[in-house]
Amino acid sequence: MVVTQTLADILKLFRQGSPRIAILGAGGMGKTSLARNVVHHEEVTTKYHGNRFFVTCDTASSKSELAGLIGAHLGMKPGEDLTRVVLQRFSSSAPNLLILDNLETVWEPTKSRKHIEEFLSLLTEIKSLALLIAMRGTERPSKVQWTRPFLQPLPPLAQDAARKMFIDIADDKHPLQVLDQVFALTDNMPLSISLLAHLVDIEGCKEMLSRWETEKTSLISDGSDRRSYLELSITLSRSSPRIASTPQAQDLLALLSMLPDGLSDVELKQTKSPILDILGCKAALLHTALAYTDGHKWLKVLVPIREYMGKLSLPQIR
Ligand SMILES: Nc1ncnc2c1ncn2[C@@H]1O[C@H](COP(=O)(O)OP(=O)(O)O)[C@@H](O)[C@H]1O
Ligand SMILES: [Mg+2]
Repeated sequence: MVVTQTLADILKLFRQGSPRIAILGAGGMGKTSLARNVVHHEEVTTKYHGNRFFVTCDTASSKSELAGLIGAHLGMKPGEDLTRVVLQRFSSSAPNLLILDNLETVWEPTKSRKHIEEFLSLLTEIKSLALLIAMRGTERPSKVQWTRPFLQPLPPLAQDAARKMFIDIADDKHPLQVLDQVFALTDNMPLSISLLAHLVDIEGCKEMLSRWETEKTSLISDGSDRRSYLELSITLSRSSPRIASTPQAQDLLALLSMLPDGLSDVELKQTKSPILDILGCKAALLHTALAYTDGHKWLKVLVPIREYMGKLSLPQIR
């Protein structure tokens, strides 16, 4: 983990009490990784012990579903609307740390936003509750007294941190000049670095660069904004030799992209999909960093890649 300055800024706020912090930034910029690093930092584990609740919110589409997800992490039985009991539970046991990751899914739609903001506001009335949210974008939910100074949206990695991340994955055996060319295409965004570094590791710099040039011309935009750079990285990963040698890996990627919770190994083996060598496909997705396994060994796809896959399956409007 190399976002040391932002991590230090967050830890400083934790030392001053129970902070309310919003980690913002583009998809793939490292919000989830940063939130996890906060949760596992020694200072934070010492202060909150077992009272740290990391809730991934992207399956919730309303305030009561969000309360239900939080309730499940608190060991509550599912109920109609757990909002009140969740609030009571946090008020009566102290101190707690609640992390709401991918909150944008439920906050962005205007029909649920007001209710979510009211819920956040009630949560932050509980003085002993520390709240850390991570969401895409640059706007923090209103009605919450976010702790000052506000955290700025996550910037791309600093040059040396980005270079280190790249070399950790792709090794430094590649000629520096060519490596710099590849490197410039990542825009220092962690997710792009991860995808391209895995490709360089699989097929080498030159091959990857020549595929990039070919694919670039098929981009609708001019390829200069961060989002299209990331989409190009994903396109290249999907057409890499590693995926081509296991063609059904594409089908597994499409399937996983519809499952925010991912699949366990047991489910992978039992799934009634027409994918034959499912564990081989899993290995191909892991090797290209198109998928990852979480702390419980569930196979998952990162949100920006899921969104990209979602766009692919939509009918194109001309
Ligand atoms: N500071 C970092 N150093 C190394 N790898 C990182 C860093 N931040 C993110 N990553 C990697 O980049 C990818 C995207 O990060 P993630 O935290 O999921 O982004 P976000 O939550 O903003 O979409 C992940 O594979 C993650 O492991
Ligand atoms: Mg994330």
